[in-house]
Amino acid sequence: MSSASSLLIDNTKLHSQDCPFEIGNTPLRRFQIIIQGLRHEICVKDESANAFGSIKDRVAWYILSSEMVKNPGVRHFVDASSGNYGYALASIGRELGLDITIVSSPSITAFNAAGIRGAGARLVIAESEHGESSNAARMRVAAQIAEETGACFLNQYESGLNPACHRVWTAPETLEGNRFDACFVSASSGGTGRGFADYLAGSDCRTQLMHVEPPGSNAFLDAESSERGPSLPGFGSGRKSTFSAELKAPEMIRIEDAHAVAAFTVLRDISILPIGLSSVAVVLGAIEWLTRQSEQRRVVCMCADGSERYADELESRYIAALEPAAIRQIREGLRPVLEKLRPC
Ligand SMILES: Cc1ncc(COP(=O)(O)O)c(C=O)c1O
Repeated sequence: MSSASSLLIDNTKLHSQDCPFEIGNTPLRRFQIIIQGLRHEICVKDESANAFGSIKDRVAWYILSSEMVKNPGVRHFVDASSGNYGYALASIGRELGLDITIVSSPSITAFNAAGIRGAGARLVIAESEHGESSNAARMRVAAQIAEETGACFLNQYESGLNPACHRVWTAPETLEGNRFDACFVSASSGGTGRGFADYLAGSDCRTQLMHVEPPGSNAFLDAESSERGPSLPGFGSGRKSTFSAELKAPEMIRIEDAHAVAAFTVLRDISILPIGLSSVAVVLGAIEWLTRQSEQRRVVCMCADGSERYADELESRYIAALEPAAIRQIREGLRPVLEKLRPC
């Protein structure tokens, strides 16, 4: 399926009502924070509560169920994933008795790699060629496998079903009936960002959409720095998102990977918000935006997954990649801010 022309697929039938798994209707967890004397509310849309643990459960179900209807004889499906979508697709495939092949990158978490293999799916790690982003490498290898094996390539990075899933399902579930001043999302494929933008464009909801990405991400706007590409799973992309086509430049807040990792350790220490690394970055983006506000605000953060996916590798993989002195300093700066978060 090709890019822009397929973005406005009206596939309203294929969502929560038809899903046989506990996907969707995830909780909104409410927190308050006082910044410069103003009491703001930060709601966390906790997508870790989905059956297979992340926001990508919705997309995996939505794309797979649609393609199964279109290709009734096919039992083997292949797709590219940074990890969570692969975990979800493998888990759904196990329940439905399908053959699933997932193509990911060396950055996949040990949690997701074990989950994919544990569900009986095949996991292939794609190495980037010179100058190729990791997303582009896994798309290339997944297309090759489909060609060689006759498997159906779901192509989440280009399928209009990916943003459509969020336009008809995640966005209305989160925003309808809730008066949020702003909604914060991160980007990997860009499906969430584009789906929310399309939903807002077609509704009278006044919520402002804010993208949060690392400085090296090209997903929706050109990278601010070419020094370091995105390194946290699901947080930014070296490749321009297919779904950024024909979209006016979004509002963007850049959060460094090091800040997300440092804040993750603070949240773990104060046992307040067990969310994943991209979600921590999204919450930091929201706090940064709130510090610029002159009135009380109510915002929602789309939190794609939970802390359990990163906890085992936090030291060995994410902290080890950073300067110990720098991470200490960032932690010291963030701790007093994050300690102001209170459940309400
Ligand atoms: C942890 C995490 N956060 C955020 C995202 C971003 O989602 P999208 O692919 O819709 O841009 C993903 C997607 O894989 C993810 O795994």
